[in-house]
Amino acid sequence: MINRNMIYNNDCIIGMANLPDNSVQMILTDPPYLVNYKDRAGRSVANDMASNSNWLTPAFSEMYRVLDNNSYAVVFYGWNEVDKFMNAWRKAGFRIIGHFIFYKKYASNGRKDKKHMEYRHECAYLLAKGYPQPFEVLPSVMGWNYTGNKYHPTQKPIDLLLKLINAFCPIGGVVLDPFMGSASTAMACIKSNIFNYLGYELDNNYFSIAMNRINAKMANKNQNNYLPQSTNNSHFQNRQQLNQRGHYAN
Ligand SMILES: C[S@@+](CC[C@H](N)C(=O)[O-])C[C@H]1O[C@@H](n2cnc3c(N)ncnc32)[C@H](O)[C@@H]1O
Repeated sequence: MINRNMIYNNDCIIGMANLPDNSVQMILTDPPYLVNYKDRAGRSVANDMASNSNWLTPAFSEMYRVLDNNSYAVVFYGWNEVDKFMNAWRKAGFRIIGHFIFYKKYASNGRKDKKHMEYRHECAYLLAKGYPQPFEVLPSVMGWNYTGNKYHPTQKPIDLLLKLINAFCPIGGVVLDPFMGSASTAMACIKSNIFNYLGYELDNNYFSIAMNRINAKMANKNQNNYLPQSTNNSHFQNRQQLNQRGHYAN
């Protein structure tokens, strides 16, 4: 049994070593892109140095081990270092299933950097352990709403994360995000009322931002209403619940 709906202020490689094999039902994560990112306010991201990608293989190997059989991982990544990410995913054992493009109405690279092109998309790979089936078939290209990056310099939109979780995680499942940042993945699970989260954040400052964000949300919610609980790990047995969710018409 694992602790659900927790974020640990820890290195995820150390933290995941304490999780049993096959103990989470989906991975949704946004690791450092290896691009030395710094925003205008000077905020940066730990382990984002292009010169050090040593953490990639151990991190994804642990993710593969703790992910349940026949389950999905959705991983945002740095496209200019795609070879390093792909190498780590394959080494860990993941199958490469698909690729998402999230198009933006704005360019995310600063003015001085626009001489080659404007960067108007984010991207993520859909990976699998075994041979899962989705709960909803999503388009490979979807829109992206700007978050304002209030909580984190690379903050992801909650509604988009929830769409991905809804398509790839069984009801009541645990969504692991080892690189939690400001807890956007957790916020998506909380918003859903039907998915659990588990994660790690190394940086003390982002960890406390994440906890404040969650606590503020939970204070607004009737805790009894927040039902994420047991899962039997079986997509097939969850079908009845999915019918109720309106995913299957039969
Ligand atoms: C790209 S950001 C994630 C942002 C997040 N998606 C959000 O919406 O706030 C990656 C995060 O991983 C954290 N991180 C880097 N290395 C880590 C590690 N080994 N273990 C846990 N967290 C780590 C960084 O501090 C950073 O906050």
